Amino acid sequence: MILKSAKLYGQEGLWNIEIKGEQIVNLLPADDFIDSSHEKVIDLAGKLVLPPFVEPHIHLDYVLTAGTPRWNQSGTLFEGIQCWSERKLVVKETKEDIKRRALKAIEMQMKHGIQHVRTHVDITDPSLIGLEALLEIREEIKPWMDIQIVAFPQEGIYAYPKGDELLEEALKMGADVVGGIPHYEFTREDGVQSVKKSLELAYKYGKMVDIHCDEIDDEQSRFVEVVAAEAYKLGMGELVTASHTTAMGSYNDAYTYKLFKLLKQSKINFVALPKANLHLQGRFDSYPKRRGLTRVKELLESDINVCFGLDSIMDPWYPLGDGNLIRVVEMGLHACHMTGYNDIVTALNLITSNGAKTLNIEENYGIKKGNKANLVVINTESEYEAVRCQSPVLYSIRNGEVIVETKPAETKMNIPEFSKQFSE
Ligand code: FE2
Repeated sequence: MILKSAKLYGQEGLWNIEIKGEQIVNLLPADDFIDSSHEKVIDLAGKLVLPPFVEPHIHLDYVLTAGTPRWNQSGTLFEGIQCWSERKLVVKETKEDIKRRALKAIEMQMKHGIQHVRTHVDITDPSLIGLEALLEIREEIKPWMDIQIVAFPQEGIYAYPKGDELLEEALKMGADVVGGIPHYEFTREDGVQSVKKSLELAYKYGKMVDIHCDEIDDEQSRFVEVVAAEAYKLGMGELVTASHTTAMGSYNDAYTYKLFKLLKQSKINFVALPKANLHLQGRFDSYPKRRGLTRVKELLESDINVCFGLDSIMDPWYPLGDGNLIRVVEMGLHACHMTGYNDIVTALNLITSNGAKTLNIEENYGIKKGNKANLVVINTESEYEAVRCQSPVLYSIRNGEVIVETKPAETKMNIPEFSKQFSE
């Protein structure tokens, strides 16, 4: 297959991408000779081509459950956890039920050009049925999507009975990443201990770490320093991620200045979830209301890796969401005061290369000769317009096969006098 006249993300000029079998075998300037013996040639006419989108943080075991057994009326994280806990008592789902919901969400993600996903799965449930469901899905959908599973102790490693044992069991069953939720443990001391436990288990079992960290508007919630310090001491920073870290939006600048030195030294990754946290945070504020996001712009300016994720699709923590990461980028740029020109034209890094770095999949990621032919084509000709118009994914190509194809909507103006006067 040849993809003709592609505008490669972040590069000048147009290119022809030659694909044989599952691989990109050639990447040539568009006016160079192309081998015309290929059965399939798609003329992209300058459309933007990127590596597949990376969703670094979603809860596939929770998707499409909003409203059962009741809606989260306050919109707080804590009522969300309460609703989920009540649901576990009332709704007895089978593994097949969980898989059905998760696969509906995966289909939404695939339609939006996502091919790499890190999903958290609640393991504070002695049956570990959600984990079993996602472990099966991980294998079943491998041809079309790569999934990493985080063993996530939603109700605490120590606040939930035998949470630490369930976490270790989940790793033995095959989870790829160790989770944690230190700000939800009963005390600061338990929180610190829980972070140490997560990293100790990751070290023991050779896993990555992704902690729900400081997802609260409490300026005293300072577990990110513990995550960074422990990761640094164990020399495993690049394998460690702090998700949310919304309390950082409330830290004072003197403390943050000191903290950033450690964060940079530790090499840990950050995941910001702009949609979910604009919804969840600031709920205890009167006015002015805080945005409740981590310091994305400042972290990036300090060369610390940050990526964006969605977190939820219709669950007790967030009632909306459809898997579309370009929309997350557009909203995140507003919320983080990142609407300068350079911020906009590089913003898709937040859902591509930065996500790949967080997931530690950089090695074979990207549109390069010799790499797997995994890429997306979106309906625009520039990085700037991609964000401004939140352009849809025209093609998602995986291992050399077109796995998703979109026909863009067409809007027609039926006012001839307007067109004559203003458009011609
Ligand atoms: Fe989350």
